[in-house]
Amino acid sequence: MTGMQAATAGQESGPIARRPIGRTGLSVTELGFGGASLGNLYRAMSDADAQATLQAALDAGIRHVDTAPHYGRGLSERRVGDALRQVDGVVLSTKVGRLLAPDDSVVDDRMRDGFRSAMPFAARYDYSHDGILRSHADSLQRLGLARVDLLYVHDIGGYAHGDASEAYWRQLTTGGGFRALERLRDEGAIAGFGVGVNEVAACLAAMRATQLDVILLAGRYTLLEQAPLDDLMPACAAAGTSIVIGGPYNSGILATGTRGGGPLHFDYGEAPRGVVHRVAAIEAVCARHGVPLAAAALAFVLAHPQVASVIPGIDGAARAAETLALYRHAIPPALWGDLREAGLIRDDAPVPETRS
Ligand SMILES: NC(=O)c1ccc[n+]([C@@H]2O[C@H](COP(=O)([O-])OP(=O)(O)OC[C@H]3O[C@@H](n4cnc5c(N)ncnc54)[C@H](OP(=O)(O)O)[C@@H]3O)[C@@H](O)[C@H]2O)c1
Repeated sequence: MTGMQAATAGQESGPIARRPIGRTGLSVTELGFGGASLGNLYRAMSDADAQATLQAALDAGIRHVDTAPHYGRGLSERRVGDALRQVDGVVLSTKVGRLLAPDDSVVDDRMRDGFRSAMPFAARYDYSHDGILRSHADSLQRLGLARVDLLYVHDIGGYAHGDASEAYWRQLTTGGGFRALERLRDEGAIAGFGVGVNEVAACLAAMRATQLDVILLAGRYTLLEQAPLDDLMPACAAAGTSIVIGGPYNSGILATGTRGGGPLHFDYGEAPRGVVHRVAAIEAVCARHGVPLAAAALAFVLAHPQVASVIPGIDGAARAAETLALYRHAIPPALWGDLREAGLIRDDAPVPETRS
């Protein structure tokens, strides 16, 4: 296959391309590292494996790492900090909105909030002015780093909080949470901030309240879902806000496909029948073109001009190398036409251009 016939998500070789984040002056590698796995998302990982995983991602050329206090109640931040302390040139994001307090009842690695972490802490939501400043300071302590580049307000909105969302929204707005983030940005303590959420409504509300540099949107703009084309993507283009795509595999099914016989994960749970059928149809088109489903999932989101980076879950050193290969996989342009023709992606969704 020649370069005229096939396009990849990124370059087929050389360093991973970088894209700017809003007006921050930062640029990130368009393939990034989602750090939930290092907090023992779904299963425990040893410290040695965690270090090897992040090192393999760095060896692959990834220079964009995302973590959060929530990921294993501090465990992901500790491991990320240990791995990055001597490394230059990595754009690091963490999150605000949960404060961790000591909890000595946590004595085993039972599943808690999806993570198998025995870190003896409990999380409490706090989106207030002082809560945000404290969260930032606590993260630096856990990371053992003097600085993070980007802060995301984590899980604000109805998807995470249901009936309590109004009260948390008030903390962020009238309670000064956004003011604290603006202050950190104005003082140069961080380069920029945004929200890190699984829903579009929270992004739009936050954009009306303050100037966001970047939005980490998980699971809502993928090969399976493109509703943000209607509202969020144009709003971000107008405001100069970049998008980082989290959960590009919708928790797994867009990587595993439907044919492997293993569990089919969608949005943190078992995939509903309708999703399985749709993925099977996408998978069949990909197979006809000799393209792994996961490679198409990465390439598709990176084709949107508002998207700065995609951060799939990478839960092992081998998977870091595998993810780089998926990112570099050649994709015949006809694949996108076939997906459109079958009604499997929206007609107005940007798709990768052919590179000559
Ligand atoms: N609110 C927020 O801010 C928010 C929310 C969600 C995610 N995020 C960010 O996005 C990152 C990624 O999200 P995610 O891990 O939830 O979802 P994801 O990237 O959509 O899916 C990850 C899952 O896909 C499977 N997988 C990954 N690569 C694969 C491959 N090459 N072959 C087969 N299966 C593969 C793995 O399942 P198995 O391990 O079972 O193989 C893995 O657990 C997070 O680490 C976080 O940084 C942010």
